[in-house]
Amino acid sequence: MSGKPVVLVTRKLPPNVEARLQRDYRPLLNREDRLYDSAELLRLADGADAILPCHTESLRAEVIERLPASVRIIATFSVGHDHIDLAAAKARGIVVTNTPDVLADATAEITMLLLLGAARRASEGERLVRSGGWNTWSPSFMLGVQVTGKRLGIVGMGRVGQVTARRARGFDMEIHYHNRSELPADKAHGATYHASLESLLPQCDFLALHCPSTPETVGLLNAERIALLPDGAIVVNAARGSVVDEAALLAALAAGKLYAAGLDVFNNEPDIDPEFARRDNLFLLPHLGSATRETRDAMGFRALDNLDAFFAGRTPGDRLA
Ligand code: DGY
Repeated sequence: MSGKPVVLVTRKLPPNVEARLQRDYRPLLNREDRLYDSAELLRLADGADAILPCHTESLRAEVIERLPASVRIIATFSVGHDHIDLAAAKARGIVVTNTPDVLADATAEITMLLLLGAARRASEGERLVRSGGWNTWSPSFMLGVQVTGKRLGIVGMGRVGQVTARRARGFDMEIHYHNRSELPADKAHGATYHASLESLLPQCDFLALHCPSTPETVGLLNAERIALLPDGAIVVNAARGSVVDEAALLAALAAGKLYAAGLDVFNNEPDIDPEFARRDNLFLLPHLGSATRETRDAMGFRALDNLDAFFAGRTPGDRLA
């Protein structure tokens, strides 16, 4: 390789991130922010030393196997890496990195918004005001569920789960969690550990999903597990759509088993199951977990730190494969 490394950047990134890319690399930018399909991505990757994708690009095994030999690192602009086949990358000797840690505050904010929005019927209320259909106030008008003092169960107590717990304590919530391992006391801050989901779920007035999407967590919240939640529980998901069995969730919302749900992520985004839009007891957002200016800059800089380390001959801090 001579000169600055060539980086294929699949989506339009924040100006500060693209400026740094232009200073230190020869970036192939996507100025129109078009979504590349696999064929176009493979064509554009020809001659690139690195790819900087987002979760919107599916780098499954068939794509990775066909990447040109020039590509030596995939530095994804995301903490989630379910769109990249790590085993296939490893088999080809391609390094893969992600952007952990820097999304925790923004994603925990969205989780609190989902929790409050679902419990207090925010979508329904907003629709009523905007449509001109608001014509009354009465003591029984649009009652919701109070968040303060309730039990919050968190599945996945990594950085996002821990920040969510901290924010929820501001609402005097009692924190329960399930994680692969129990947190040390200085990180648990009194939260109750459950070694199994089956032990956690009956304790949750609210359930927040913060586990990564892996083959083990696909469909983790299924009909059997929803049945273990207390009647009238509220589920929020800011992780990945795949961790929820969506048909089971919709059935539980329709049956009144669940009071409401708040969802920022779905299967097959953005072409989601139209049933989501039909239900009133849902507070829905279009995958906005990390969508703040500060966090998107931080994600870009983190991806670039990983590229910088790699091209300087060091192991990138966020190496996954
Ligand atoms: C992530 O970083 O995984 C977010 O979902 C955005 O891709």
